[in-house]
Amino acid sequence: MNIALIGYGKMGKEIEQILLHRGHTVTLRSTRSTPFRATDLTGTDVAIEFTEPHSAVDNILKCFEAGVPVVVGTTGWYTRMPEVREACASMNGGLFTASNFSIGVNILFKVNKELARIMSDFEEYTPSMEEIHHTAKRDAPSGTAITLAEGILENYPSRQGWINESTEDAHQLGIVSQREGEVPGTHIVRYTSAVDEIQLVHQAYNRKGFALGAVKAAEFMQGKAGVYSMGDLLA
Ligand SMILES: NC(=O)c1ccc[n+]([C@@H]2O[C@H](COP(=O)([O-])OP(=O)(O)OC[C@H]3O[C@@H](n4cnc5c(N)ncnc54)[C@H](OP(=O)(O)O)[C@@H]3O)[C@@H](O)[C@H]2O)c1
Repeated sequence: MNIALIGYGKMGKEIEQILLHRGHTVTLRSTRSTPFRATDLTGTDVAIEFTEPHSAVDNILKCFEAGVPVVVGTTGWYTRMPEVREACASMNGGLFTASNFSIGVNILFKVNKELARIMSDFEEYTPSMEEIHHTAKRDAPSGTAITLAEGILENYPSRQGWINESTEDAHQLGIVSQREGEVPGTHIVRYTSAVDEIQLVHQAYNRKGFALGAVKAAEFMQGKAGVYSMGDLLA
């Protein structure tokens, strides 16, 4: 396939290695200083977008305009998802989004929901979350932490929302965000009582798991219109 890389930073470069290894061709490498127009995507099968929260929506719309399905890894823009879905439908676009492309985290998402369902019956435990990422990460909490929090809230009726700090409020789920060195991504869900603690932990050792998932999503999206996510890829 001919693939356009929109964003050629840490993730774009990691994805490029896997694309070349799997026999694909990279037709465009766009950065902040080398922006692209919809017409630059002529001949592209799928675009892969890993930029930053404020650029993602414009980039997605340009892909819809070009008629090229787009796989989006950028997080921190999801409050604009309703307008992007609408544009996708009206422009007959193809969109694949995931707050985390790694298989391990997507398994964690499932276990997290199940554990929340069980723990909601045990008031002596307090749920909380922590996420740790490298210091260049722009959004907090991470998109992955938000997906985990939503998975807990759906299954844990006493908590009505999440807050991006440690909290004693029995109606809120506290998410602590730490930014340290080169950490690619660590997520911890805790249920703490006076006598013990249960933890779910996912620790990415490097970015390869995210990059491989994004490439598989691009292969899945060839010739597709509509909105998809990891559930569709893993089904
Ligand atoms: N979903 C997942 O599994 C997953 C995994 C890892 C990371 N992420 C997310 O992916 C995003 C990128 O991460 P990263 O670590 O690769 O960041 P990064 O190293 O900072 O790279 C970002 C790249 O985007 C480029 N860029 C910024 N604005 C642009 C625009 N308007 N048009 C084209 N390119 C633009 C930057 O250009 P310059 O080089 O000129 O600055 C840079 O090449 C972040 O939101 C991160 O949270 C998601």
